[in-house]
Amino acid sequence: MSNRLKVTAVSGSYKIPSRTTAVIEELTQRLGKQIPIDLHLIELSNIASDLVASFNPADLPIGVQNDIKAIENADLLIVATPVYRASYTGLFKHLFDLVNYESLFDVPVLLAATGGSERHALIIDHELRPLFSFFQALTLPVGVYGTEADFVNYKVNNPILSARIDLAIERALPLLKHRELVKPDLATHAASVKLATA
Ligand SMILES: Cc1cc2nc3c(=O)[nH]c(=O)nc-3n(C[C@H](O)[C@H](O)[C@H](O)COP(=O)(O)O)c2cc1C
Repeated sequence: MSNRLKVTAVSGSYKIPSRTTAVIEELTQRLGKQIPIDLHLIELSNIASDLVASFNPADLPIGVQNDIKAIENADLLIVATPVYRASYTGLFKHLFDLVNYESLFDVPVLLAATGGSERHALIIDHELRPLFSFFQALTLPVGVYGTEADFVNYKVNNPILSARIDLAIERALPLLKHRELVKPDLATHAASVKLATA
C-alpha cells in the first residue's frame, strides 16, 4: 500500500489556460515539497462535454468515472473554481452532484477560487464551504482567493496571493499529520524539509 497522500485536485474552470488551475498547481506543487503525494488532477475544461451530457455516473466515459472515484477515495481534496455569477461554475456543482454523498465524511478539503475582483472573495465561505459541509467533509480553515490582477500570463504573480497559498499549506499540514493521513515517517520528512527551507 502506498504511504503517499492521495490528493485529488479539481479545477472548476472551463478554460485553458486558467488562473484557477494555476492556483491548484501552486498548491499541489508546494504541498508536494512538504510531503509525498499522489496527485489526481481533474480539469473541468477536459471533461466538460462528457459531464454535461450525463446525470448518472454510470453513463459517463470510464475516464470521468475514474475522476469521480478519485474524488470519493481522496485523502485530501483541493478544490478551486472561478467565480461565475457570484458562485462556483455550474459544471463544478454538477460534478459534485455525481459524487456519492457519503464518500467525503471527514475528508479534509482545501478551498480556493479566483474571480474578476475582490468583491466575491466570500465565495469561499458562503458558497464552497456550505457545499462541502453538506458532504460532512472537513473544510480547512484557510482558503485561497485570487483576482485576475494577481496573475500574469496565467501564473501567480502577487506575493500576497503567494503567501496565502503558503499559509494554506502550512495550516493544512498539522491537521493531515494529526489525522495520521501523513504517516509518522512522512511527518518526519515534512519536518526536515521545513527545517531545511527555514
Ligand atoms: C460567465 C462568467 C461569469 C463571471 N462572473 C464573475 C463574478 O460574478 N464575480 C467575479 O468576481 N468574477 C466573475 N467572472 C470572472 C472570473 O471569475 C475570473 O476571470 C476568473 O479568474 C476566471 O478563472 P479561469 O482563468 O480559471 O477561467 C466571471 C467570468 C465569466 C466568464
